[in-house]
Amino acid sequence: MAKRDSHYVDLKEQPVPEGQHLLEVDNLKMYFHTQDGVVHAVDGVSYTLDRGETLGVVGESGSGKSVTHMTIMGLIEMPPGKIEGGDIRYRGHSILEMSEEDMQHIRGNDIAMIFQDPMTSLNPVYKIGRQVGEGLRLHRGYSKKQALERAVELLDLVGIPEPEKRVNEYPHQFSGGMRQRVMIAMALACDPDILIADEPTTALDVTIQAQIIELMQKMQEDNGNAIIMITHDLGVVADMADKIMVMYAGRPVEFGTAEEIFYDSRHPYTWGLIRSIPDHGQTEKKELTPIAGNPPSLVNLPSGCPFAPRCPYAVDICHEQAPEHITTETGHYSACHFADDPNFLKFAPENSRTRADLDDRRAAASTEKKEA
Ligand SMILES: Nc1ncnc2c1ncn2[C@@H]1O[C@H](COP(=O)(O)OP(=O)(O)OP(=O)(O)O)[C@@H](O)[C@H]1O
Ligand code: SF4
Ligand SMILES: [Mg+2]
Repeated sequence: MAKRDSHYVDLKEQPVPEGQHLLEVDNLKMYFHTQDGVVHAVDGVSYTLDRGETLGVVGESGSGKSVTHMTIMGLIEMPPGKIEGGDIRYRGHSILEMSEEDMQHIRGNDIAMIFQDPMTSLNPVYKIGRQVGEGLRLHRGYSKKQALERAVELLDLVGIPEPEKRVNEYPHQFSGGMRQRVMIAMALACDPDILIADEPTTALDVTIQAQIIELMQKMQEDNGNAIIMITHDLGVVADMADKIMVMYAGRPVEFGTAEEIFYDSRHPYTWGLIRSIPDHGQTEKKELTPIAGNPPSLVNLPSGCPFAPRCPYAVDICHEQAPEHITTETGHYSACHFADDPNFLKFAPENSRTRADLDDRRAAASTEKKEA
């Protein structure tokens, strides 16, 4: 796709054009051309996101969650990566057509990402304070001193003790959990329009996980930012997502509101994820119900439904013909041949547990809000 010359204006300050969304991902396809063949890492992802909304992106390892969002950030190396189709629009402007110079303004300032691996995302040779304040110097014209002062405030905000001292330390002097918090401080620094959080809590213990999620939600309440929360665990997004996209083999297999996904799921893969959610409040690990089998190779995808080799309900047509997205009038969609067949939907998990769980979480969150 042809790149335009730089014409950067601060898009965050511009209104979203009428009839459009803050972020629109439209049938995005990103493949990797490798010696072993073409990896169909992202194969037709579509969604929209508006201000103040939280989208949960859920799926097993290798389902394309990170590559989809690294593509939005313009951070996929090309080659081997190649956009094979689709578009990404931020406030009505195509990101795929933007120059690298424009993307440098967008990254961190308009769309920020908390990366999955904090160890490789921090620069080992620079002090933490410099790295946290870098975006403010680049995008906001802060002086060195102002950026450092703000870095101290941000480290304090994410719960790092003695921030005045720690801004002068290097990444290797921080534990994994503390590095993760530094990444979060960096991502929040410029108050981004969209915050993409890629498994931001996996390296953290449960109490800190809850604090970090609370921090992101507080930021959202104060500033109306949109959040994209990427996770393996549907339970993590149960109490924060407005909408959920379930990904399998580089494709969205189900998309809907949190209520639709939890109470009225129309896809057997989502059913497996629902059955794998640990009980809310449980302290001991109980045996989960994992989905049997492994995801397919993204180089040689099976013909037909990519979930068919693992799906307990697969019949002949599933192995022969790829399902089209079946969409309800609310925009809830599912890529399963039987998504609107009432006899098939009888196999959906007995969801009273997750329904009660979701209701409990929402009731608790609303009581906390009222008390605050
Ligand atoms: N540079 C690359 N070259 C070739 N294949 C790649 C490259 N980067 C990613 N992939 C492949 O793209 C697919 C999707 O990867 P992605 O990192 O998006 O998965 P994910 O859903 O984020 O998984 P996880 O939950 O483990 O983070 C995987 O099969 C991965 O091996
Ligand atoms: S299309 Fe067939 S194999 Fe695929 S999820 Fe539906 S029932 Fe299972
Ligand atoms: Mg990932």
